[in-house]
Amino acid sequence: MVPPKSRSRDRNLYSEAPLLQHSKTVFFYSHLSGGAQKAKANAISQKEKTLSREHIDHRQILSFAEARVNLPKDKADAYRQQAGRLADKLENYIGEHPDFALRRIMLSGSLAKGTSLRSLSDIDMAVYISGSDAPHDLRQVLEYLAERLRKAFPNFAPEQVKPQTYSVTVSFRGSGLDVDVVPVLYAGKPNWRGDLISQEDGSFLETSIPLHIEFARKRKSAQPRHFAQVVRLVKFWSAQLKRQDPDFRFKSFMVEMVLAKLCDEGANFSDYVEALQTFFTYVARTGLRERIVFEDHYKASAVGALSDPVQIIDPINEKNNVARLYTADNASRIQQAALEAGDAIDAALRAPTKSLTEYYWQQVFGPTFTA
Ligand SMILES: Nc1ncnc2c1ncn2[C@@H]1O[C@H](COP(=O)(O)OP(=O)(O)OP(=O)(O)O)[C@@H](O)[C@H]1O
Ligand SMILES: [Mg+2]
Repeated sequence: MVPPKSRSRDRNLYSEAPLLQHSKTVFFYSHLSGGAQKAKANAISQKEKTLSREHIDHRQILSFAEARVNLPKDKADAYRQQAGRLADKLENYIGEHPDFALRRIMLSGSLAKGTSLRSLSDIDMAVYISGSDAPHDLRQVLEYLAERLRKAFPNFAPEQVKPQTYSVTVSFRGSGLDVDVVPVLYAGKPNWRGDLISQEDGSFLETSIPLHIEFARKRKSAQPRHFAQVVRLVKFWSAQLKRQDPDFRFKSFMVEMVLAKLCDEGANFSDYVEALQTFFTYVARTGLRERIVFEDHYKASAVGALSDPVQIIDPINEKNNVARLYTADNASRIQQAALEAGDAIDAALRAPTKSLTEYYWQQVFGPTFTA
């Protein structure tokens, strides 16, 4: 583990925390000359780091992830099957009615990418709508989609298919999760490029769900298991911040893009402590004020000048800034939270006892963290 560069020199977040062994050692060796004192303290701090890694290291973070963070595999499989049954039903109907305005349904979001959290509350699916009579006004699109879905799923009671603000929910009685169906207006472009309804503000964003899934798959195969695991850990960190402060925003897709950039630049995600530090250090250093762009589908130079404070460009569409709705204040809060998380991990790595180490990790992952 390379010790991360200090994120905050001028403030000690944990000054109220129990006195650290580290500061005691400096005092103890105060009879030595400045340089020797520092060298001795450093040697001891290195030793403490090793010791702390015995308290909580990569393996404990992995166990915590498996117990509390990740959607268990049996559940993920069951939800994917549920989505598959719904898709089969719709595909059958489409097969029998070739002129039907709904063209395709596909799993989108975290369940498709293998990055779902245990707290997953609905299954995201995208439905492609085409045809000359399809409306282009948001409210009408949702009504139109709900009406078509009711037709294709006659076994569902009408109230089980409900338009929401920017999507249509299909509720299952009894078991299973609700399926959140997001409309995509589709004009026949290759790779299922179409206008996706933004779940943030209802605007139409040209993009491609299957190419997003492929984008994630590439990073997952660059670092099998670890890329998806680190995405889930950072999403868990962000979810617990959202619970503490309803104004805190950090969209999962943005988290994924930041981690994809670090992955592409060669960051090693196989040690989760180090991977988290890499992420927090990057966010704390840049405050997300540095443009993030990928060259999977276009040249970085194709992106024009933008005035948005946060610029994370959709890897599929150079005109779509995924972070378009994030204000400077949203970005500062993310930066501050990353700074605090990074400092807490630094403190955890210096902490002399297991309980103190756990205390610092709880600053990152909340009170459910145990090792
Ligand atoms: N601003 C956007 N521009 C283009 N596509 C987007 C945008 N926001 C979301 N998407 C698409 O929707 C998918 C789901 O995004 P979202 O941020 O909900 O992440 P998620 O992986 O489903 O995470 P969560 O577990 O939080 O639901 C993305 O993978 C992407 O394909
Ligand atoms: Mg989702």
